[in-house]
Amino acid sequence: MLFTRVGSATRDCFKRVWNRRVRSTSRISFVLRLLAIQPALLWPQSVYRPDIPKTWDESALANWATPVAGWNVRPTHISAKEYYSLGVENLRTYPVYFPGKEPDGYWETLQHIGPKPLIEPETLKTEADWIEAGRRVFDEADMIHERVFDPKLIDSARRSETFRESGTEPLPDGTLYFLRWVPTNRGVALSLGNCSICHLQFLKDGTRVPGAPSFPSAIRDPRRRNPLVPAIHNASGVFSGDMPFEMAPGDPLGG
Ligand code: HEC
Repeated sequence: MLFTRVGSATRDCFKRVWNRRVRSTSRISFVLRLLAIQPALLWPQSVYRPDIPKTWDESALANWATPVAGWNVRPTHISAKEYYSLGVENLRTYPVYFPGKEPDGYWETLQHIGPKPLIEPETLKTEADWIEAGRRVFDEADMIHERVFDPKLIDSARRSETFRESGTEPLPDGTLYFLRWVPTNRGVALSLGNCSICHLQFLKDGTRVPGAPSFPSAIRDPRRRNPLVPAIHNASGVFSGDMPFEMAPGDPLGG
């Protein structure tokens, strides 16, 4: 009702302007002027270009690290050229459900879905599209250096015995904190979440608070006790949450 009224008021106003304008100038020139004044009327979905700050800036990095005591030399970094020529990893990941909570057919779907891009920047048009893509990276990106393909580990992520002793509990949506499945061209990998494992908190009533630190309640929270996390560190030979130092084969954590 309200919309009809607004619509007819706009129409009347337009008619009045149109009739007046027709007297003084040609209809074509009026239409052209209208287009020039209001391009947003015609192209409301104009492409949004985000202002993405430069990540690797050599001059900003030059004195970033403190000189090493005694030597008075600063650690160095790879060059911006090397940084920007690194391959971009962009694989979609999926939640790992607590055993018994997996939806029907979920595991079978993951087996044949194949690698998919986490985000497709070329399809992002509006600011809302970019925000949604950022949300997906925050929630779903994984630790690419910790993907494991060991069938025993993969199997144990789907068995309830794995989580019995630790008393692990699922998140409100039935999934497990930390873990992600990653369909790759080598098969489905088990991996660890990235931003979301350190920057996502769940309140007691299940409310999800993205951006809040995950760690303060970690020790007391049965949802964050996951014996597969150290097992994945061991299998991949990597400590996550630190620099991606890899341990040489033969070292205690080496692969
Ligand atoms: C292993 C844990 C861990 C992971 C994974 C992680 N962070 Fe952090 N992040 C931290 C910690 C700890 C700090 C605080 C560092 C400090 O204050 O020195 C931090 C700081 C930040 C800050 C700065 C906050 C501020 O107040 O200035 C941002 C932004 C941030 N992280 C975003 C991310 C994003 C985005 C990702 C994923 C790509 C991510 N983090 C992954 C642990 C993590």
